[in-house]
Amino acid sequence: MELLNTNVAANRLNISRATILQRVENKTMVSLTFQTKKLKKHFIPSDFLHINPQKIEFHDCKVISIIQNKGGVGKSSLAINFASSLSLISSKKARILIVDFDPQANLSENFLSQNILSNKPTIADIMRLHKENRELVTKDVVLNSISTVEFENVKYDILPSSIDLGIEIESLRTKTTPETRLNRTLKLIEEFYDFIIIDTPPTVGLYTQMALNCSDDILLIAIPEEFPARGFKTLLEQLELYKNEMIDLKDSKDFNIFGLVINKIENTNLNKHYKDVLVELSFKAGIDNLYFIPKLLTMSESQAFHIPIFEYKQECDMGFKIGGEILKIAFDYLVKNGIIKED
Ligand SMILES: Nc1ncnc2c1ncn2[C@@H]1O[C@H](COP(=O)(O)OP(=O)(O)O)[C@@H](O)[C@H]1O
Ligand SMILES: [Mg+2]
Repeated sequence: MELLNTNVAANRLNISRATILQRVENKTMVSLTFQTKKLKKHFIPSDFLHINPQKIEFHDCKVISIIQNKGGVGKSSLAINFASSLSLISSKKARILIVDFDPQANLSENFLSQNILSNKPTIADIMRLHKENRELVTKDVVLNSISTVEFENVKYDILPSSIDLGIEIESLRTKTTPETRLNRTLKLIEEFYDFIIIDTPPTVGLYTQMALNCSDDILLIAIPEEFPARGFKTLLEQLELYKNEMIDLKDSKDFNIFGLVINKIENTNLNKHYKDVLVELSFKAGIDNLYFIPKLLTMSESQAFHIPIFEYKQECDMGFKIGGEILKIAFDYLVKNGIIKED
C-alpha cells in the first residue's frame, strides 16, 4: 500500500487539496498526520481514498489472537498497532478490546498506569474466580477490570494481565475443560465490542488452546531467522492438532489462520533466505495473506515511549512505512469480514 500526500491524493481523486483537508478535518477520510519540526503533513493511504466512516459497518464481535511460540518477535507490538489500525481506519468508531493474556504483562505495563495496574482486577483475578466457582465471573466483574486508552487518532480498551496469571493457569489445569475458560469470560462482554484482540505468551500449550478456543481468526507472526523459521513449521502442525482437538468442546470457535506477519526483516542474504522459507511454509499451509515489516528503530522507539506507531511523531516517515503495512492488515481484515462495504 502506498501512502499519498494530500497533493497526490487530490490529483488522483480530481478534487482540490482544500476539499481533501476538509474531509480529513470532518473525519470522512483517513489521514495519517505527523509532525515535522515546522510542518504538519497529511498522508492518505491510497487504499482508503474511497472509504469514509459511513462505509464501515460492524457486525458481530470478531476475536483475533496473535500467535507465536517464540518471544521477542513482535506479538505485543502487533497487537497494539493492529488495534490502532482498526481504530484509525474507523475514525475511532470501532469498539476494540485488547486482552493481555501473557503473564509477562508487557503490554499492560506499557499502556496502563501503575495506579490502574495495582488497583484494578486483571485477567489473572478473573481466572482465579473461574477456578473457585465460574458463576462468580459475571459481566460486571469483567467490565470492571477493563480500562480505556485514548490517543489523538486511536482508542482501545485493555484487559490487563499480571505475573499471577502463570499460577492461575497452572491451577486451572486440574479443572474440567480449562481451554474454554477464556472463551466463557469473553462471551460475557462480546456485545460491547466489535473486535477483541488477544496478545498471547511465547508458548504453545494451555494458554494457546484457551486463546484459540475463543478466536474467529488468528494472526501469526514470525521473524526470518534460522530457529524461528524451523519452529514455524512445528507451530503450524501444533495449531492443526489443537484445531482438531477442539471440535468437540462446547462453544469452541473453528478458527481460521488469517495471515502471517514476517517481522524484523533486514536486508541481508540470510534474512532473505529465511523469509523465503517462511513464505513457502505459509503457502503450503494455505495462508494467503502475508505482510512484511522491516526491522526499524522507529518500531522499538515507539514501544519504548509507550505509543502506537501511528501516534509516534518524528522527523522522518519511517513510522508510516511500518504503519502502512499494519494498516493494510487491518484493511484486508475489514474487507474480508464485509465490514468495509465496497462499491
Ligand atoms: N519491526 C520491528 N523493528 C524493530 N524493533 C521491533 C520491531 N517489532 C518489534 N520490535 C521490538 O522488539 C521487541 C520485542 O517486541 P514485542 O512486541 O514485545 O515482542 P513479543 O510480544 O513477541 O515478545 C520490542 O522492544 C519491540 O519494540
Ligand atoms: Mg509480548
